Amino acid sequence: MKTHKIAVIAGDGIGPEVINEGIKVLNVIATLDQTFHFDFTFFPWGCEYYIQKGRMIDEDGIERLKEFAAIYLGAVGFPGVPDHISLWELLLTIRKSFDQYVNIRPVTLLKGAPCPLAGVRQEEIDMLFIRENTEGEYAGAGDWLYKGKKEEVVLQNSVFSRKGTERIIRYAFETALKQGKTLTSISKGNALNYSMVFWDQVFQEVSKEYPTVKTYSYLVDAAAMLMIKDPKRFEVVVTSNLFGDILTDLGAAIAGGLGLAAGANLNPERKFPSMFEPIHGSAPDIAGRQIANPLAAIWSASQLLDYVGYERYGKLLLDVMEQLLIEKQVLTPDLGGSSTTSEVGNRIVELLTIRLKSEHLERIN
Ligand code: NAI
Ligand code: MG
Repeated sequence: MKTHKIAVIAGDGIGPEVINEGIKVLNVIATLDQTFHFDFTFFPWGCEYYIQKGRMIDEDGIERLKEFAAIYLGAVGFPGVPDHISLWELLLTIRKSFDQYVNIRPVTLLKGAPCPLAGVRQEEIDMLFIRENTEGEYAGAGDWLYKGKKEEVVLQNSVFSRKGTERIIRYAFETALKQGKTLTSISKGNALNYSMVFWDQVFQEVSKEYPTVKTYSYLVDAAAMLMIKDPKRFEVVVTSNLFGDILTDLGAAIAGGLGLAAGANLNPERKFPSMFEPIHGSAPDIAGRQIANPLAAIWSASQLLDYVGYERYGKLLLDVMEQLLIEKQVLTPDLGGSSTTSEVGNRIVELLTIRLKSEHLERIN
């Protein structure tokens, strides 16, 4: 039996509530399959840990995470710990230390999921955002001069290296080529006259290596408008760290809400573990009440399944999520239902079990 070692950082707020459901689902799939199992190791890192120990993650934390196939993360952040500390000292540290330079965020409207846009058909919202994840606007380079004085000056520099820019754009072209989709680059070359002019130039250069991939290029402000007015234009999308962060929240809003949006942080070379997480935060406003929607965390479990080699199950899990959304019987309040976080997880497990058992019967008949 094959074993996949997964590190779990459930984190703060609703993190543990939604991650529980994802783990439940992963375990059921492994149990029904019978050829592999997941070995989960839980790490208590996050804001509560910070309050007790003064650190978000143990000193040797990164070293210890290296032995895992993947990291499954809930959310970090809680009132009382400044957000820039919780984000930088845990999440961004992992992304950078493990060179997870690709952030994949599907913006796909599942059948049965709510969409606030009028006159848009379900299949018209089907984008795959590929966000640069290790440098750009989130490089953490800058200075704070004369802090607290009248002549205070703050510098926040963006970093676009040739290596970093080329590899994310190339990854996006490879994805578009493999999927037979168009590729859209989103930048802001008119105002950001160094970084984004460079980005556009690299996009042009790399595009010559992929003559069969149809490309588009938009300024980020226009792209934000077009995602609402004409979402079907966008298939595979590549963009910088900051723009990708913002536009994928917009994407979440048109594709069922934050309760349904997942993201994967990949080190494509597999030199280091990749990390899978819902894109929402720790939602302190609803934490501890069992009303958080676990579907985003479950969608990231589906991405994790794809990553460890079970694309068939990753796809099946998305099908079952659609079935649940179409049924509209067991949903959390954000999707208009009155069920709890665990009830949604349990219903997914039921639907999966039915599907997998009937497939099994078909095979032996
Ligand atoms: P948030 O995503 O936690 O919440 C925004 C709104 O969406 C809230 O009203 C919340 O109740 C709702 N929401 C989020 N996830 C939901 C779910 N699964 N089901 C139902 N409703 C859901 O963002 P916010 O409030 O800006 O940040 C809260 C904390 O989370 C902050 O400390 C922030 O730094 C942190 N954060 C952490 C992230 C991460 O760990 N990846 C990402 C974003 C924020
Ligand atoms: Mg974000």
